[in-house]
Amino acid sequence: MKKYIVIGNPIDHSLSPKLHNYWFKANNINAEYHKKLAQNSDLMELIKSIRKKEFEGANITVPFKNEIIDFLDELSPEANVTKSVNTLLNQRGKIIGHNTDIAGFELAIRHTKYDLSQKNVLILGAGGVVPSIVYALEKSKVKKITIMNRTIEKAEILGERFKNIEVKKWGSKVNFDMIINATSIGLSDNDKIDLKFEDAGENKFFYDVIYNPTQTNFLKEAKKNLHKTENGKMMFIYQAHQAFTLWHKKMPDINDEVINLIK
Ligand code: ATR
Repeated sequence: MKKYIVIGNPIDHSLSPKLHNYWFKANNINAEYHKKLAQNSDLMELIKSIRKKEFEGANITVPFKNEIIDFLDELSPEANVTKSVNTLLNQRGKIIGHNTDIAGFELAIRHTKYDLSQKNVLILGAGGVVPSIVYALEKSKVKKITIMNRTIEKAEILGERFKNIEVKKWGSKVNFDMIINATSIGLSDNDKIDLKFEDAGENKFFYDVIYNPTQTNFLKEAKKNLHKTENGKMMFIYQAHQAFTLWHKKMPDINDEVINLIK
């Protein structure tokens, strides 16, 4: 039986095993998908076990998407630009790092039917997932990307890497059409972002990368003010869909049953 794995820290919350194991069954693939809590010191061992085919493939999640790069043979162009890897593939003995978060985000936004072109987008946060979102937004021909992060230095590092983004101090007033919460605020029910969006205007799009809980306070407030809202569930499903396609060379279905698995 083939084995797949996701590693991260923390990892308990990961729903990747649920999704991939469902798709294995639905596609008659004789495989198992596991999750493992990892430390930095485990990364080398993981790569060795993929080389030995103890695992056919792996997903990498927070906080190792960048750290894993040192141990890989090659990067896909997207993984190289973003310096972020979430999927490992053993291609004829070479371990290749891919980034399926970019397509995950693009497809999730397409799913909402929101047209990104010529939009002003404000991103809150500068952590692991942000380079992938910036890359996807740039491809979608947005008008402007602004990043605001509590620790401004981290946003400035991204500003150096992606020349078209503007960095603003946390709490600055920024006009936007779409705002993305890419911070970890909201993972706990009581979390609240210490920013005010009362003067955001009307009919904006509030997007949260978080999907568990399904409605963060960020989205609840936005909904009260009649803005369009969306959580990160479809992004999660689509990044997994892209990883599955890379590994098995076939596209699994995304139907209501799949969407309902992710609660
Ligand atoms: P990492 O920063 O290790 O990549 P992450 O989960 O990808 O981890 O990112 C967490 C993001 O949430 C960061 O942008 C973080 O801001 P800092 O860079 O200032 O740490 C942001 N964040 C977490 N708690 C926050 C809070 N209470 N207020 C504002 N931003 C917060």
